[in-house]
Amino acid sequence: MGSTAAPLKLMREPLKNGNSIDHLDYIDVTPIIGREYPAASLKAMLEAPNADEQLRDLAITICERGVVFFRAAQDDLSIGEQKYITDMLGKLTGRPKENGLHVHPLYNDPNNQPMADGTNDENIYVINSEAAKKLYATMKDRPAATEPRDLGHEWHSDSLFENCPSDFSFLRMESTPPAGGDTLWVSGYEIYDRLSRPYQRFLESLTATCAQPVFKSACEKGGYAVMSPRGSPLNVDFEFAPHHPVVRTHPVTGWKSLFAGVGLHVSRIDDVTSYEDSMIREYVLRLITRNHDCIARMHWTRGACAIWSNVCTLHAATPDTHLVDGIRTGVRASGIGEVPYLDPASTGRREALGMPKF
Ligand SMILES: [Fe+2]
Repeated sequence: MGSTAAPLKLMREPLKNGNSIDHLDYIDVTPIIGREYPAASLKAMLEAPNADEQLRDLAITICERGVVFFRAAQDDLSIGEQKYITDMLGKLTGRPKENGLHVHPLYNDPNNQPMADGTNDENIYVINSEAAKKLYATMKDRPAATEPRDLGHEWHSDSLFENCPSDFSFLRMESTPPAGGDTLWVSGYEIYDRLSRPYQRFLESLTATCAQPVFKSACEKGGYAVMSPRGSPLNVDFEFAPHHPVVRTHPVTGWKSLFAGVGLHVSRIDDVTSYEDSMIREYVLRLITRNHDCIARMHWTRGACAIWSNVCTLHAATPDTHLVDGIRTGVRASGIGEVPYLDPASTGRREALGMPKF
């Protein structure tokens, strides 16, 4: 008689969503990813007597849906409140206690734009389409604009270059161009679930080096110091080449997600030949671009917000605003989560929810 192995226990018990934000109207952007709140106010959420409970349920919703949009302009929300919400989403869902908000390594770059009131904040990254053009000019090895850009390079998860990358990111758009500037998010859960079992096992065996050498060259060229530490005692100096799992487990949901297999901050799949490296990354990119039912797209309106989990989504900006007259400006805060891990006891989202494979 064969012995029956006991089911493996998850390293972290998944968190269950409560009902504290069930009163908010929403529309799911697609069946797979994204939720949009057309009228909800984050300020009202903060002022509610059960604010912590609401923020915790919002955080769990974000981890389950990947990204949420707040469409109504959140004009009454201060920068301090945006930072507080971003920090609390991680704190209320069990991230390491010593971690806080990320500090961008190039915060000292003189080309960085101040916020709308003229001040700077080391936990706020101002996204500005004009400043980005100047900063990119200081970076070495940028390809010349002699052929169409490959926008596949835009896909990334925030701060992947850190030992402890971002958990939640919160972007509020302050001004929008007349057209363009959309952001796309893809579900890492669903991309993982679209793999065959042998390929899932193969990608689960891999790690990737997530270096970002342009930071060092930008600091040297600009003659300023890199920010350190950056939201965690493990994110210091020029230590920008961590090895992250290609597939990781989301600590909040317990579901496996494709994580470090492609994009802007992935410099090398570890331990494979250079041909295999490019083949794996091309394949992951092909999965993303050929499965657009896994993608939620945000067409920004002034004052709208997006909050996402970097653990289970990758996102891509659409750099087309140079085609129209207008500047796209936004303010982003990002929390810092745990060192990514793959829990052998975890499963994909579809399996955990009892859904069919496809
Ligand atoms: Fe990003």
